[in-house]
Amino acid sequence: MSIELKPRAVGQPLNRVDGRLKVTGGAKYPAEFAPANLAYGYLVGSTVAKGHIRSIDVSAAEKAPGVLAVLTHQNAPKLGEPPNAKDSGGIRIEQRIPLSDAKVHYAGQYIAVIVATSLEEARYAAGLLRVDYEVEPHALHKEEAPQTAHQPDESNGEKLQEHKGDIAAVLAQPDLIKIEQTYSTPTETHNPMECSATIAEWQDSKHLVLYDSTQYVKGAQAVVAQAFNLPRENVRIICPFVGGAFGCKGPVWPHTIAAAMAAQVVKRPVRIEVTRQLMFSGTGHRTPTFQTIALAANRDGRLQAMRHTSEMLTSPVGAWVETCGIGSTNVLYDAPAIEFSHTVFTVNVSQPSFMRAPGECPGTYAVECAMDELAYALGMDPVQLRLVNNSPNHPIKGVPWSTKHLRECYELGADRFGWNKRKPEPGSMKDDRWLRGWGVATATYPAKKWDADVHIQLHAGGKAIVRCASHDLGTGAYTAFTQISADAIGLPVEDVTFELGSSDFPYGPVAGGSNSTATVGSAIVVAAQKLHEKLAALAVADKESPLAGMNTGKINLVGTRRLGDGSKSVSFDDILHSAGMKSIHAEGGIKEEEDKKLGFQSFGAHFCEVNVDPELFAVHVSRFVSVMDCGRVINPKTGGSQILGGVVMGIGMALEEHTAYDRKTGLPATRNLADYHVPVNADIPKIEVHFVGEPDFAFNPMGSRGMGEIGITGVAAAIANAVFHATGKRVRDLPITLDKLLA
Ligand code: MOS
Repeated sequence: MSIELKPRAVGQPLNRVDGRLKVTGGAKYPAEFAPANLAYGYLVGSTVAKGHIRSIDVSAAEKAPGVLAVLTHQNAPKLGEPPNAKDSGGIRIEQRIPLSDAKVHYAGQYIAVIVATSLEEARYAAGLLRVDYEVEPHALHKEEAPQTAHQPDESNGEKLQEHKGDIAAVLAQPDLIKIEQTYSTPTETHNPMECSATIAEWQDSKHLVLYDSTQYVKGAQAVVAQAFNLPRENVRIICPFVGGAFGCKGPVWPHTIAAAMAAQVVKRPVRIEVTRQLMFSGTGHRTPTFQTIALAANRDGRLQAMRHTSEMLTSPVGAWVETCGIGSTNVLYDAPAIEFSHTVFTVNVSQPSFMRAPGECPGTYAVECAMDELAYALGMDPVQLRLVNNSPNHPIKGVPWSTKHLRECYELGADRFGWNKRKPEPGSMKDDRWLRGWGVATATYPAKKWDADVHIQLHAGGKAIVRCASHDLGTGAYTAFTQISADAIGLPVEDVTFELGSSDFPYGPVAGGSNSTATVGSAIVVAAQKLHEKLAALAVADKESPLAGMNTGKINLVGTRRLGDGSKSVSFDDILHSAGMKSIHAEGGIKEEEDKKLGFQSFGAHFCEVNVDPELFAVHVSRFVSVMDCGRVINPKTGGSQILGGVVMGIGMALEEHTAYDRKTGLPATRNLADYHVPVNADIPKIEVHFVGEPDFAFNPMGSRGMGEIGITGVAAAIANAVFHATGKRVRDLPITLDKLLA
């Protein structure tokens, strides 16, 4: 694409346009809608991990006060989904329809939904269910399910088993410096502030409205329509605000389908909120990974071979691959021989799914720790090792990166951090109180752009409403889209209202893969051009207009609210007024297209300082500097917050987060925010975020690449490397808790 958007509002650190609504409680989240006659659904999860339900005695529950229905596999409606239905166009990672049979595949799987006139009555009745299971031995770890190992070919069109060069031959060369280590990451759970929720309301037997916390209103529409065998347009999804998601609201999960089922049965609107406990089994998690990295380099640090073997888990009810190799070894550094592979084991845990930078996040952790180990083996500065291997090309595809400024990220970061004062020997920077360590790691995430359409309505007087079925997960999308719309249409930001979060609007993709700003922004620019063309056509046809009779191809936006060429111009308002129109609308969009000549990827550098208590080995991150190259930054305030939030989440990943399973029941044992540790304010130091680089106009007219996910990539490695520098102990199994450092 060659069009460039002239930035006026774009690039400004605008406050969130929805900020006031959020802090005053005026922002309405899906669970807060209140259709008349609302009933409440309570989900009951299996307490065993494998087997089947021999019987459920519902008699006491059904007689309990306020209970309207008790749904189990014995009486739940059979859905009209055609057998072996094709891909709906949405995302359903857990394939099984809830309550579809007596089988139990994982602990926490919904075995019943109680519907009552209040949540308390529904929850009380849930305690009256008597469930008898035929229990089978379950597997929770890959060692318990070796026979299930499989190697899928691809993920989203990219090869999962990939190689270039003769890796075995290079690794066998005796004169190279080599390291080979295995790194593991545990199960992690997203834990957004807003738990997932659905209100289902049937308007008649064929028309369904869902207020649903989702990252993908059009996807939820497609999945639910297919499951209930309805035309897509009969299902409406409403979600104006999302209270955080991190991937867990991308797919449609069983509770959403269960809410629609329950509403069908009781003939009333039904609300189902997933409890915090059930969020640990009902809406996905990051699968644990086991990654073995072999690196070989010349004495000058140039990588000659990189081998990356990843193992991970999925559930019996859906396929999942954590694309560690695709997200890291595939893109980070070049070498004559590269190989990565992914092996998946099926165990009796709930369905893993997308979690912020799926693949890139655990992948960069492993590779960037291995790079640190290689730097020590070489006796080389870890920043220098990254710069020696900084490649202008995609290592596997060979095509050049559209723009890449990793070097500037490391240079600015090193300067801000004071890296040149680092003494390389582990333990050498301790003071009277702390063992102190400094670590670095590279961040990376691909730039993605999918399909979107945008509708613009421009009113006489100069206000515009712009609409797309997109989402704001708390990221600042409302604000970024408003800024882009203002510049693309030619209005001040205060005259633009951007609306999203409804399947009634033109197509928007999943708010995942950090694609939204690039995708929807590009569509906004196309729609604005269509609007200008319509206005220009009116102007040239109007004999009284200064632009009368001109070639519309010569007419462009000039400044704000005006169209013209170099010499003459006319305002939007005058055009509409002369045409006797109160408003005008236009629609335009983009389709995903593969660029075979360029690779689009963002890079960044994280610098981290840790203070480690010399006796207790408690680790505290004391300073953090992140420098990112994401092309043009649409809004440094909200964009900077995305990176900052990614670093906070990375600190949690490095030091705290771990979903542990009870061996006996197979249920998550850490399934509340007291037992599942995430960082609190005291864990977070001042985090400096900087941006470098240039607008990436080969990618889109704004020149921007996504920022939702890159911030977390590499963070855990920077911390792990700093901990090694502080203590001389290399913990290769996250999280780095003090028991592992004391061992
Ligand atoms: Mo993100 S894990 O692609 O929602």
